[in-house]
Amino acid sequence: MPFSLPPLPYSTNALAASGMCQETLELHHGKHHNAYVVALNGLIESKGLAGKSLETIMAEAGRAGAEGLPVLNQAGQHWNHMLFWQAMKPNGGGESLPGRIGAKIAEDFGGLAQFKEAFKQAGVTQFGSGWCWLILKSDGRLAVTKTPNGANPISTGEGTPLLGCDVWEHAYYLDFRNLRPNYIQNFLDRLVNWEFVEHLLLSGGMSSGQTA
Ligand SMILES: [Fe+2]
Repeated sequence: MPFSLPPLPYSTNALAASGMCQETLELHHGKHHNAYVVALNGLIESKGLAGKSLETIMAEAGRAGAEGLPVLNQAGQHWNHMLFWQAMKPNGGGESLPGRIGAKIAEDFGGLAQFKEAFKQAGVTQFGSGWCWLILKSDGRLAVTKTPNGANPISTGEGTPLLGCDVWEHAYYLDFRNLRPNYIQNFLDRLVNWEFVEHLLLSGGMSSGQTA
């Protein structure tokens, strides 16, 4: 089965009151994300990807270094956006986190405010396009990290992504113009679906369920 673009888990105007307008979602999901899916499907035969899961493809492409980049750019972006859409919800964010993730953030960062500052700092300092992440490392601790372009903590082997924020300009230019820090702050304060992050923490991370 070729890869496919899942529908958004909400309508394209559902996040408008929380700082992400309908036009952003229509373009970002319907054009940008879809283009990664189409491009990835175009690589299945020439790159010998048939039968492999999206997660395996990303990990192998990451290990292949520069040679793996053409595949990683598309495969990573497909996976990253699938997580991103689910990691947001209308009237998300807030100060009250579900039990386990709330406790882990307090334990590993010292508090929600400290986590937000570290996450925002990672996103702001990602030079050019990329993503900032909350990950669960193999030692059981949470950490914040950032990756360029289509890479992610699976392709770098850093850990299990629990939350990712797209810091490509296409993610924020319509809503926040050039102000990436404001976009990330808004993401944290008003968009994050913490129940989904809690679910990923408890279930061991997101499985796309998609195979070439
Ligand atoms: Fe994006």
